[in-house]
Amino acid sequence: MHEIAKRFNSLFGHAPEVVAAAPGRVNLIGEHIDYSDGFVLPFAISDTTTVAMSRRKDGMIRIASAQKSAEIFEFSLDKLAPLTGESWARYALGVLWVLDVDTGVELLIDGRVPLGAGLSSSAALECSIAMAVNHLFQKGMSLQELARATQKAENKYVGVPCGIMDQSVSLMAKSGSALLLDCRDLTTENIPFLIAPQGLELLIIDTQAHHKLVDGGYAERRASCEKAVATLGITSLRDISVADYAARQSELDPTTYIRGFHAVTEMKRVLDAVEALKANNFDRLGDLLNQSHRSLRDDYTVSCPELNLAVDTALDQGAIGARMVGGGFGGSAIALIKTEYVKRCENAIQRAFSEAGFKNPRFFTSLPSDGARVIPS
Ligand code: GLA
Repeated sequence: MHEIAKRFNSLFGHAPEVVAAAPGRVNLIGEHIDYSDGFVLPFAISDTTTVAMSRRKDGMIRIASAQKSAEIFEFSLDKLAPLTGESWARYALGVLWVLDVDTGVELLIDGRVPLGAGLSSSAALECSIAMAVNHLFQKGMSLQELARATQKAENKYVGVPCGIMDQSVSLMAKSGSALLLDCRDLTTENIPFLIAPQGLELLIIDTQAHHKLVDGGYAERRASCEKAVATLGITSLRDISVADYAARQSELDPTTYIRGFHAVTEMKRVLDAVEALKANNFDRLGDLLNQSHRSLRDDYTVSCPELNLAVDTALDQGAIGARMVGGGFGGSAIALIKTEYVKRCENAIQRAFSEAGFKNPRFFTSLPSDGARVIPS
């Protein structure tokens, strides 16, 4: 029996009907453009959140987290409403709410995606629950439909105005590949990302500086992109070239312009990165990662001193490319670096953080892994 099924059994007194898991993610490139209909290129990491679930008949939700000493929280399905519930439990309740689970469930969650590291632990939680519900209640929803539903849960129930990238990759990723995702229609292409044979590694540096997307910085960036679209009278920032956008600078206020400029240039960088990967040109990929970081730091202004120090130190240590990932204002950076330099790079970043008086960073590496799955019992 799967470990979580055993714990479920001792908590609820019977075996779960389904166990499902969904991974966190890193984004290779394509940052802050999922909500502008862009292409993004994330991959799933090997850390997952697992959920064990059974149906109930009394309209109650009984929910526990293996990380919270297995205290059981109870909610009534007919009282579910946006923003109700413990803050961590909201991610789960939101998915049950959106998927219209009407009989009740009990569930135990085991979250192994590092929290607050910008690696989408919340999407992993939402998607594991969505997979379990889809299976248990035979909803027959496609992965695309589940992605839209989980995003809606996070937007409407939890109250975080995220885009569609994290949930999509958590659901649709394939091992060995980065997922080229068209955020407009959720079509995908798997782009092989096989760096080990090149002697390369993708080092993930968790700065331990914690961001909160709900804090307003994220929503404000989104609003700027929407303002640029409305003022220019276009359908989305996806539908304008860098040259055409630059030519219309005078129509936008400086902040709106520069934020939109990040978006249009990042859209191009994603497609260039796909070309670079298809040509096995990792120097070019590294260059694009660096450009992406500079754009996020200087134009979109969502980086922070910890992220910049991690990126700069990694580059000093021979990384061929490095950038912040995710929403920003903390969280993780990635560095594409020769395997033989990894240890030296980690030590240098640790030293630099200590000298700067920052928290101790954490390091991970992960190969591109599979997306969400139901685990056979
Ligand atoms: C967060 C959001 C995503 C995306 C990224 C930035 O992770 O959840 O939808 O916007 O930030 O690329």
